[in-house]
Amino acid sequence: MGSLFHRSGLHRNNIYLYVLLVTLIIVIYLQDSSNIKKQYDEVWRTWESSTLSPSPSGPDLHNNPGERRDVSPFKNTVAYIRLNSDAHPERIPLLMQYEPFFHTIHISHPNNVVDSGEQYFLNITHDNYWSFWTGYQGVANLMASILNSSSEGPIEATHDGHSGPEGFVGDRHVQNITGVWFMHFDAWVDPMKFFDMDFTRIWVLDSASMGVGDGAPYYVCMKDKSRYPQWHWLQTPEDNEGRMWKALRAIANGIEGYDVGSPEYCTGWSDMYYIPRQYFGDFIALSRYFTEAEVFHEMATPTIFNIIDRRRRKTPWRSVIYRLSDCWGSCCFDVSIPEDVEWRRCGHRLNYATSMHIAEAHFKRLDEELKLVRAAEGTVYEK
Ligand SMILES: *[C@@H]1O[C@H](CO)[C@@H](O)[C@H](O)[C@H]1NC(C)=O
Ligand SMILES: *[C@@H]1O[C@H](CO)[C@@H](O)[C@H](O)[C@H]1NC(C)=O
Ligand SMILES: *[C@@H]1O[C@H](CO)[C@@H](O)[C@H](O)[C@H]1NC(C)=O
Repeated sequence: MGSLFHRSGLHRNNIYLYVLLVTLIIVIYLQDSSNIKKQYDEVWRTWESSTLSPSPSGPDLHNNPGERRDVSPFKNTVAYIRLNSDAHPERIPLLMQYEPFFHTIHISHPNNVVDSGEQYFLNITHDNYWSFWTGYQGVANLMASILNSSSEGPIEATHDGHSGPEGFVGDRHVQNITGVWFMHFDAWVDPMKFFDMDFTRIWVLDSASMGVGDGAPYYVCMKDKSRYPQWHWLQTPEDNEGRMWKALRAIANGIEGYDVGSPEYCTGWSDMYYIPRQYFGDFIALSRYFTEAEVFHEMATPTIFNIIDRRRRKTPWRSVIYRLSDCWGSCCFDVSIPEDVEWRRCGHRLNYATSMHIAEAHFKRLDEELKLVRAAEGTVYEK
């Protein structure tokens, strides 16, 4: 190497060049790191002053229940819990253990309030909605009832939905309801673990596994069924795709302001979802078209969300939909070990018939959490 160096006639110039280059790099580096340090100092100062004195422009804790230790993030949400059969009334007291975490628990099943003398009963806490197939209509009826009871003017509910304005559930004002969390009764949710969620968006169940193997079916939109031919509800004799076209045509011709996307429909796992109040009106308006066309709920619901998104997103890349993809399981898998439940904040299915001990462990966990929540009364999370 040395001899090579010496043989070059320009070796002295080369050395000057190297020295110059290295000096330049060092200067740039020092300059840069002092800038970075300055930036860090700035961030540090801001952070320090913000924890010492609450900044007036800081987050409003009331609107960010997740900031608090002592408040469930769902405290202004109604849990709409759907049971498709009425054979197991003993499960309802268990499900009511969700009550302290929500504004209200609404139980829906076909023979819920049989002695009301009405074919279809609905109030803020109960309904008799009969159809598992178009279950979203029951949710829409509840939303209409919430808006009705909040004196926002009468809202038409379809299919004989009826309830008088009530205003209150216990001592809680219906006006304070900010969203609906739908869940099939054998789904599970650990409400306190939703502290980091954005309650102004719609949450749609999704799966990262794209429905492959044991993976849950994912949320996907398409212009024809070749996009997802393995989707079960596209293979059944009811011709859900044909019904879908019928519903989308009716929307395109029937109501102003909604874009059905040339047209496009969506499918997906729908055992849980969340809708904020600002989209209740859209959900109510759209669901009746799917109910009338008898579209199955695991196609209608994701499609309704897609149509709401087209209308309400501020830009094409700022969807109002959040893809909730960390829930365990899918439509059709049962948990088999308690860890399945313990390690996930949500999931489906807890098999109450074969694994009651796992369901009981889940509710016991919620009970423990509730004790901590109550012990933390008045406190916020430390920054
Ligand atoms: C809302 O109120 C109107 C008028 O009082 C009533 O006709 C309608 O059935 C109500 N809707 C629901 C869902 O309660
Ligand atoms: C709804 O109706 C049921 C059955 O009549 C009743 O037990 C319940 O208290 C009602 N809920 C409210 C909020 O009034
Ligand atoms: C409704 O929420 C407000 C805060 O926005 C609260 O002050 C009030 O107590 C709540 N009312 C009821 C009846 O829950």
